[in-house]
Amino acid sequence: MTAQIPVEKKKLEKAPLSLHYMGDRVLRQPAKRFTKIDEETRRLARQMLQTMYTEDGIGLAAPQIGLNKQMIVVDAQPDEAANPPIVLVNPVITAESNDLCVIQEGCLSIPGVFLDVTRSKVIEVSYKDETGRPQKLRADGLLARVILHEIDHLNGILFVDRVDNAIAMNQELVKHGFSVKDVRQIK
Ligand code: NI
Repeated sequence: MTAQIPVEKKKLEKAPLSLHYMGDRVLRQPAKRFTKIDEETRRLARQMLQTMYTEDGIGLAAPQIGLNKQMIVVDAQPDEAANPPIVLVNPVITAESNDLCVIQEGCLSIPGVFLDVTRSKVIEVSYKDETGRPQKLRADGLLARVILHEIDHLNGILFVDRVDNAIAMNQELVKHGFSVKDVRQIK
């Protein structure tokens, strides 16, 4: 379940991969499945993790670095050296609780913007790890939240699409230089 890739949890002088921001088309395209998992896949996972830690994120999806592929990396406890990150390839949510919760979310692709989003409290996800082994994970709390947010990215969905409070959202987006036109309300 945990990543076998040795990655130090530290900020590099420069992230190995460049982030793409809201307004960029790549963030709105559905990502493609990996058909094989090899050294190249692991190299990508490593670079995505390094980028995530450098940019102060707790999750990152491949479309955010401009790659239209189904990979996400997650670390809900970036300050805990002993807690390894998780690499999820071709992840699929297999169960979501009816029990919902509200958590404030942010996104490396929409820097500065933080807004409340309602989602399921507990989830189950199936995926392949970076060695190609099939895995299942039950998650709750912040970890569940990050996984749902990142899998949304693989479907071209951004967290602002799920925000209920349109007034607060419009204010936040404008304040941080983003266009409300780039939101696709899905509720
Ligand atoms: Ni995001």
